[in-house]
Amino acid sequence: MPKTRLMIALDAPDLKTARALLEKLKGLPVFYKVGSSLFTLEGPAAVDLAHEYGGKVFLDLKLHDIPNTVKNAVENAAKLGVYSISLHLSGGAEMVRAAAGIKKRPELWGITVLTSFDAGSFARVGFKGSINETIFNLADLGVKSGIDGIVCSPREAAAVRKRFGPGIKVITPGIRLGQACDDQKRAMTPKEAARAGADFIVVGRPVLTARDPARTAAAILKEIE
Ligand code: C5P
Repeated sequence: MPKTRLMIALDAPDLKTARALLEKLKGLPVFYKVGSSLFTLEGPAAVDLAHEYGGKVFLDLKLHDIPNTVKNAVENAAKLGVYSISLHLSGGAEMVRAAAGIKKRPELWGITVLTSFDAGSFARVGFKGSINETIFNLADLGVKSGIDGIVCSPREAAAVRKRFGPGIKVITPGIRLGQACDDQKRAMTPKEAARAGADFIVVGRPVLTARDPARTAAAILKEIE
């Protein structure tokens, strides 16, 4: 069973708010995720800020473009010194291989099916097959093309771990401390995700909106110990 690590999604509205949050979480053994919302406004300064507070940074830009553009973006991410970057596996094998072929690069974490999908909303997009079938198709494609980790919901984590073994990391957003009533449809608790074998659980709003974010993060760390 891998040791599960806590990754906090720095989905703050701006750098100032992100810094205030990082100050509160200072000293806790967590990783940080910089996603498109903060990055769109603040750019690489958001990554620098997370690095300033230590730990590894996951740049969650969910790249999905033609192979050459994705390759260039991953090369630029390497210059920022991030630990990992995400790309949509539905961008296809050629796109993933273009990124994987870069010599000195961050880990590539492949997005399978977003945790905000449920069966109904997924079918309406027009994909053939179930969410589970699609996740495994995409994960197979990603692993064959050179990715290092698979992003999926905690509900699929155990099966993904079993299929690919310890060489491929499993990253699970969609973590909720209690009953979720928001856009995360395939959610689980930190403990359930850790039991399912996730290497990283990604937590945003449950920590960000907590009255005491440090206390909540510490409680999650204890839960996944
Ligand atoms: O606030 P919440 O805990 O839902 O945050 C989850 C974070 O993980 C968000 O930043 C979201 O963009 C990201 N994420 C996700 N589902 C994926 C990949 C990333 O929710 N499949």
